[in-house]
Amino acid sequence: MINRASKLAEIIHNSEKIHVVTHIDADGITAGAIAALTLKRLGKPYSIEFVKQLDNNIQEKLKNENHKLIWFTDLGSSISSNSIIKNKIITDHHSCNQDADHSYHFNPHLFGFDGSFELSGAGATYLVSKSIDKKNIDLSSLAIIGACGDLQDKKNCKLIGLNQDILKDGKKSNQIVIKKDISYFGRETRPVYKLLQFANNPIIPGLTGRESACISFLKKLNIKIKDGDKSRCWVHLSKNERRKIISNIAELLLTKGFGHKITKRIISEVYILKNEKEGTELHDAKEYATLLNSTARYGQYMVGLNVCLGDRNKWLNDAQNLLRGHRKNLVEGLQFAKEEGIERREFLQFYHAKSGIRDTIIGIVTNMLLNSFEVSNDLPLIGFSFKEDGDVKASARGTQELVEKGLNLSIAMNQAAKDLNGIGGGHNIAAGATIPKGKEEEFLQLLEKRIKTQLSS
Ligand code: C5P
Ligand code: C5P
Ligand code: ZN
Repeated sequence: MINRASKLAEIIHNSEKIHVVTHIDADGITAGAIAALTLKRLGKPYSIEFVKQLDNNIQEKLKNENHKLIWFTDLGSSISSNSIIKNKIITDHHSCNQDADHSYHFNPHLFGFDGSFELSGAGATYLVSKSIDKKNIDLSSLAIIGACGDLQDKKNCKLIGLNQDILKDGKKSNQIVIKKDISYFGRETRPVYKLLQFANNPIIPGLTGRESACISFLKKLNIKIKDGDKSRCWVHLSKNERRKIISNIAELLLTKGFGHKITKRIISEVYILKNEKEGTELHDAKEYATLLNSTARYGQYMVGLNVCLGDRNKWLNDAQNLLRGHRKNLVEGLQFAKEEGIERREFLQFYHAKSGIRDTIIGIVTNMLLNSFEVSNDLPLIGFSFKEDGDVKASARGTQELVEKGLNLSIAMNQAAKDLNGIGGGHNIAAGATIPKGKEEEFLQLLEKRIKTQLSS
């Protein structure tokens, strides 16, 4: 792996000008930012572009642009060795075909690591950046944000594998502090009762989804929800207050029969960006990632990128405004999907949001639905949404339990999409695809057949 990283570093050193192509989610933005900062520090001229996926049109366009070198980050693993794009390097973590020529490709899957939780696209890009110059270890914080954006901490309630080495760099370069704290999203900026209301994985029986129950729960524990006219967030609570909440949630879960294994999941490692201001989205890696997801997923690429590059004025302000819209879209998207209804089949369940949910956030909504108490999580969930170009986007999400039983959504989505002249891929637990409109039913049948085989073998 070290050799491959230094080979890619050498290609970068030898190139006069580099075009970076990255993905529109938090991991893609942080990966792109790491590449951009690395090139800037080297004094290399570069340009950067964000894409939703690497389809044939994009590859054709890139080829016609005659770039000296293209650096694909957080995507590219699907490019075949006989691709029309010749001068390229790839730092990605998506599943890939092991047989092709990968001499220009840095990917954990090629070295026996699992790219769904041991290294993200930003992490892969970071390792090459570090190979270019040891001084780049301050960029480890961006790699941690990328990993959290891809939910790589979810499986073990902490980052493991190669991500753990990056965390060490984060500590060494004085960027990251690791703490054990409540797992739920929004420690820094969400009012505590909201943090409880939106709690999932595990849900809190009687509290998740019920605002007034969350407020009464805190009142009963003698915990004020406001300080003057300002709502109190998790980070504003005293140690004792936090302990009281955690032990009461644990008791609730245990008395409702959730068992120790699930109950333990209320505590996770959290990653604090110690040089950012406390009480802002930037202080917590998970919240930072969500802030980034509010930008490029809505076409506002430069906003997220500039925040990662260090802007704390105009661009941060723009990002915070976009975040409000993103949160609203997620709440409305969840509501919309529930109203549309989820249909269950033998080996999968699905819903079709049509134009009700943007294709760029259908994956997030699908993941939230599968983790909510209203949707059963014994089958993978597929969400469809219409794309602006007339095709259909499909997002699939599974659970760790299903993956352990053999589910591999990356393979299933890739093959079902291919059968219909579409494209698809991703990770075993989360994958996406684009298929022609009107082919949804056929796609579901092909997909269900694959999933059935995976779960029965
Ligand atoms: O394209 P990329 O690899 O960056 O995205 C990974 C996707 O997988 C994210 O949308 C993330 O939310 C999803 N994921 C998930 N559950 C996991 C791990 C990843 O839904 N346990
Ligand atoms: O778009 P969505 O969030 O559902 O994507 C889930 C995972 O599948 C992401 O890692 C994404 O990069 C990947 N994906 C892919 N090829 C596609 C669509 C999504 O590899 N055509
Ligand atoms: Zn990624």
